[in-house]
Amino acid sequence: MKSGLEDVVAAETVLSHVDGENGQLVVRGVSLDELGAGNRYEDVLALLLEGFFDSLPELQPALGAARAQLHAILESNVGSVGSMPVLEGMRAMLAQIEDGDELGTALQLVAAPAVLTAGLLRLKHGSAPIPPDPSLGHAADTLRMTHGSLPQRQQVAALDSYLITVADHGLNASTFAARVVASTQAGLVSATLAGLSALKGPLHGGAPGPVLDALDSVGRPENAHAWLEEALVRGERLMGFGHRIYRVRDPRADALKSALLALAESGAMDRQRLALAEAVERAALQLLREKKPDRRLETNVEFYTALLLEALGFPREAFTCVFAMGRVGGWIAHAREQVTTGRLIRPQSLYVGPAPRRAA
Ligand code: COA
Repeated sequence: MKSGLEDVVAAETVLSHVDGENGQLVVRGVSLDELGAGNRYEDVLALLLEGFFDSLPELQPALGAARAQLHAILESNVGSVGSMPVLEGMRAMLAQIEDGDELGTALQLVAAPAVLTAGLLRLKHGSAPIPPDPSLGHAADTLRMTHGSLPQRQQVAALDSYLITVADHGLNASTFAARVVASTQAGLVSATLAGLSALKGPLHGGAPGPVLDALDSVGRPENAHAWLEEALVRGERLMGFGHRIYRVRDPRADALKSALLALAESGAMDRQRLALAEAVERAALQLLREKKPDRRLETNVEFYTALLLEALGFPREAFTCVFAMGRVGGWIAHAREQVTTGRLIRPQSLYVGPAPRRAA
């Protein structure tokens, strides 16, 4: 058996396909390139949710209204969650949404990571959460609630690109966790909480913070090779490289790099930081080829995620929560798809413990 379940097909889905050999991602028949072209997160959310609820309203106002509901929940819990780490505060607040399989529940769950990340970050810095503006798009309002001012057009486009790029990605660990819980008919809140908890780990959604820690430690492009080599000698994994499915470059890394270059063009991204990251990427790929010749380890989505979220002013502690803002759409669509199969997910284990003892 394979303990990581690699090569095991555990669900049929119409939602997304990850082609690891050719470096392609398709979401409901649309390639990642097309998905990102001028779309907003709401458009991709509509694509994911289509057919899984009786009817879908226009999503911009519906999500705006859901953000307002979440803000009310946050306001009534400020005392209990204000001092928690952002992801744990978010998890505690998500658990307050009434469980169910209705569209209203789904929209609250999609709105939650945006409202809660922004609000919890402000509470940490001693400021009051800013109420949502339901007339804005989801990405624009998220940046406004986080920073307290209207973002530039390029910043909104960059956050939309990010949320779209990470919205769904086959049967990744958090989506599988969400599907397992959904298969018990526990409801969308429970499935989303399972997804969020799986996303938290550094082997899944927790890698971008350590990517920036590594860039800070490297400091200058000319130090990259020696620093990374020492890390590999210590037996460490280079964060932002390698993937369970992709054996070539993760196409999402290129989508995010394009978004970063657009930000740099508009002056909203530090070009020196980008040059440092490119030097680290070059050195890492060269070293991984030399030191792990039997593996095909390439840049993954988290490498440029780290730079993009930093350029948008999110602190490292909130990176996984911003990932959840996008991926929550995928979790909900997969949970609904799983429920429609009506089948409980319940695999078997192979017992390798001692045989039962016989009574003397
Ligand atoms: N740096 C150094 N070595 C790496 C590596 C990395 N980023 N990723 C994989 N390897 C090595 C491992 O040490 C392992 O070698 P070993 O078996 O000799 O110990 C081997 O390659 C495992 O390769 P693979 O089977 O392709 O990886 P996986 O499917 O078990 O793990 C990840 C996939 C993503 C968990 C892994 O590549 C990783 O930990 N990457 C860093 C964290 C990260 O960027 N996570 C975000 C994922 S989107």
